[in-house]
Amino acid sequence: MLVSATEMLKKAKEGHYAVGQFNINNLEWTKSILQTAQELNSPVILGVSEGAGKYMTGFNTVSAMVKAMDGDLGITVPVALHLDHGTYDGCYKCIKAGFTSIMFDGSHYAIEENIAKTKELVAVAHQLGLSIEAEVGSIGGEEDGVVGMGECADPEECKQIADLGVDMLAAGIGNIHGKYPANWAGLSFETLDAIQQKTGIMPLVLHGGTGIPDDMIAKAISLGVAKINVNTECQLYFQEATRKYIEAGKDLEGKGFDPRKLLAPGAEAIKEIVKIKMNLFGSVGKA
Ligand code: 13P
Repeated sequence: MLVSATEMLKKAKEGHYAVGQFNINNLEWTKSILQTAQELNSPVILGVSEGAGKYMTGFNTVSAMVKAMDGDLGITVPVALHLDHGTYDGCYKCIKAGFTSIMFDGSHYAIEENIAKTKELVAVAHQLGLSIEAEVGSIGGEEDGVVGMGECADPEECKQIADLGVDMLAAGIGNIHGKYPANWAGLSFETLDAIQQKTGIMPLVLHGGTGIPDDMIAKAISLGVAKINVNTECQLYFQEATRKYIEAGKDLEGKGFDPRKLLAPGAEAIKEIVKIKMNLFGSVGKA
């Protein structure tokens, strides 16, 4: 059931668990994530970066696919279709295409401009019933061409953005997209604590969910994180399962070259990691 992310995140923040945002790349990704959410009776957010949207030929295609699949699979758990790290123009495109949630990433603008653009998009999104995420303090690393330095957010600026009425706030706390380097300093819980004190009931978003140790995830949730984004880990699980299939020569046996067979181990592997994450985040049974 396609919905905005507002209610599911409010419930998550109150219930001290987090809803997973899993980024999608194609039909297999979408199907695996939706089926797992339904099986575990968990709310879920499907994240679409601008790069992935382009890869799938455009946001209209993505929206039509997700809506049709939601119906054809008989999905009853709450599902939000969310733009990940959206530009100002990208947000308007997704609103038009029928997404139920958007993220405006204005973290690379000066705070005044981030505030002005976020404010405008909050009004438009809410008028149409969409939820909206904003960002303060960039997430480190690179995701689909979006590069961030990974500085910690200023709690005062977080409050200014939260006060605009956004539904969720991504704040940099030393998190990084992609794999964490061996010398990573870890999450700054001091920053997260200070942000939560300033922003109160606002559901906070933890980007860069891949590779964060379980104890840090639990602590982040205890300090107000209600949405956790995972992208790279699904890609790694898909890659490893596909590699095994090919290396075992399965594609050379019988009709093993059939794409429905060739892509099946990867699709199953995505289900496996999504299950692990939903259990870790505590969203199982919360639909
Ligand atoms: P990872 O690729 O590190 O899991 O990060 C995902 C993310 O934050 C999407 O916005």
